[in-house]
Amino acid sequence: MLANRPPMGWNSWNTFGENIDEKLIIETVDMMVEKGYKDLGYEYVIIDDCWALRERGKDGRLVPDPEKFPHGMKYIADYIHSKGLKFGMYSCAGIMTCAKYPSSYGHEYTDAKTFAEWEVDYLKYDFCNFPISGNGKNAYLTMSMALRSCGRDILFAACNWGTDEPWKWMRSVGAHIYRSTGDINDTFVSFRDIIYSQENNFSMSAPGCYNDIDMLTVGMYGKGLVGFEDNVCTDDEYLMQFSLWCLYGAPLIMGGDIRKIDGFCKDLLQNKELIEIDQDPECRPPIIVHNWQDVRGLFKILSNNEYVLAFYNYTKNNNIFTIPFTDLGIPYNSGMGLDLHDVVTGEKIGFVKDFYNTDLKSHTCKILRGKLING
Ligand code: GLA
Repeated sequence: MLANRPPMGWNSWNTFGENIDEKLIIETVDMMVEKGYKDLGYEYVIIDDCWALRERGKDGRLVPDPEKFPHGMKYIADYIHSKGLKFGMYSCAGIMTCAKYPSSYGHEYTDAKTFAEWEVDYLKYDFCNFPISGNGKNAYLTMSMALRSCGRDILFAACNWGTDEPWKWMRSVGAHIYRSTGDINDTFVSFRDIIYSQENNFSMSAPGCYNDIDMLTVGMYGKGLVGFEDNVCTDDEYLMQFSLWCLYGAPLIMGGDIRKIDGFCKDLLQNKELIEIDQDPECRPPIIVHNWQDVRGLFKILSNNEYVLAFYNYTKNNNIFTIPFTDLGIPYNSGMGLDLHDVVTGEKIGFVKDFYNTDLKSHTCKILRGKLING
């Protein structure tokens, strides 16, 4: 089965936009291995929009831009596969891609065949320039069927930005992940609004087909295509972003320049426990147990009698959270409680019952994990 866990990898768009080439991809592939990302489960290296020539070839096939990719795409695939990683590419359901390159509307079966010949393992499929007369659901179904018949396992990453409530039908048409929101920017407000827009839409996100809330911006610090140099995320905000993606079991597709990301953000992207939470086999979305204006308390059931209790303060002020454990299904008279530790600092908190109190500074979060035991 493809996508029995939320896919993990890297995508060129957030940082590089149209400035992509063979050298960048090869260097990024090397970094995936050398810096340890591969060992943690990051496996897809995805080339986004702007890789093709502006016109199809005489045979009707998509043609890689020879200036950007002088050895073609099979060469890139071979390099990626030689390192034990997987190769992702990009096309679009419309007449042209978002950056106005040729797109797959009416060419689905030809393009799926081309991608299979290039040994592609993942296809991001966008929604720009879609004909008014067209049927979006059918367009995703058509590419899904084309991929299923192309002779190669290709993960279908549908990207229709939430149009027509894809959480209701993308699983049925065969997508493995579906973008449910517009494009992320590398700002606090952008990832907060993405989470707000989807916090009640994760019930259909599960093995086989996951809600995709866009590529991460962790480590961009305002640089690159979707960054703003005068509105840079703090490390605390990057922790909020990454851990939210993990709590919601979203695909973890890095969007920063991993050749340059080191220190806090590299450690964050490589936080084993957060990744484990994201990749939990049951992929249960968290329950919102505290919801007051711009603060949230989240409770997530993992497999193996493990639980996550997390707090997010999106406000400009410090805030106090009190969570009665009855709200977690652990009433006072049960005698049960949680044996907790802090996922980020590693601090052991120990046995907690009846309620949990914490205060949090503005734009920070706290993520606790533990087992349900009888104290
Ligand atoms: C859309 C998508 C982005 C990116 C660009 C490429 O905006 O949502 O993720 O793929 O197109 O042009």
